[in-house]
Amino acid sequence: MWKCLYLQACRLHGSSQVLKGKSGAEQRWIVRQMNDPFVKAAHLQNFRCRSAFKLLEIDEKYRLLKPGFCVIDCGAAPGAWSQVAVQRVNSTGERPDLTKGCVFGIDLLHIAPLEGAHFLSNQDITSSTTHTKLQELLPQAYADVILSDMAPNATGLKELDHERLVCMCLSLLKLAEKLLRPGGSLLCKYWDGALTHKLRDGLTRAFQDVKTLKPKASRKDSAELYFLARTFRKI
Ligand SMILES: C[S@@+](CC[C@H](N)C(=O)[O-])C[C@H]1O[C@@H](n2cnc3c(N)ncnc32)[C@H](O)[C@@H]1O
Repeated sequence: MWKCLYLQACRLHGSSQVLKGKSGAEQRWIVRQMNDPFVKAAHLQNFRCRSAFKLLEIDEKYRLLKPGFCVIDCGAAPGAWSQVAVQRVNSTGERPDLTKGCVFGIDLLHIAPLEGAHFLSNQDITSSTTHTKLQELLPQAYADVILSDMAPNATGLKELDHERLVCMCLSLLKLAEKLLRPGGSLLCKYWDGALTHKLRDGLTRAFQDVKTLKPKASRKDSAELYFLARTFRKI
């Protein structure tokens, strides 16, 4: 949240004013954001953050999100992926000629309301209580796609952060087992590291096809990658 406020302040008052009194790391972050074309494009296109472009690029290529689909967006705050999903699955019914889909977003944080999306704020997607809530909400008790851009608060210890995110991604397999329809897809972010193979193996057992993706909007200096797992084999 403070990051968004800084950027708004930069736009209103100019960067030199906003950089005053900030630590070196904060200044570097602000300058990088201000020079980032995806940040500018997100602002122009009214996306809540630049990550929208990662999902847009992946969806352009793999056509994950179709009108009428039901989507679970894990780690949805502030809501840019949900914005993309709402458009693609027609969950507002804006296109009456197309089937109406649905989007459910879950986050530990508060997520500001978005037309066409149903948000479960302050909920942990790894908890079975959240799974039960979702099951009750899904119109046909299943989802077509699970998206996860979730990430734990980084400690700065690369291996530890990697392990925590892999555990969170592995918990999505339990969610898929309960709520993903056979043939459905799962897209999840991970930070590359020693346990990547464990996650890939888990996904390969559950899905027919698993690909590693690095969309252009994902910063080159980041260990962030995505697994796209398609054609769920429900047991
Ligand atoms: C990078 S942000 C997601 C950005 C989002 N895709 C968007 O486009 O707006 C990662 C989010 O994951 C959430 N998160 C981390 N652990 C979670 C958990 N166990 N359950 C739900 N959300 C979680 C964080 O609170 C954070 O908001």
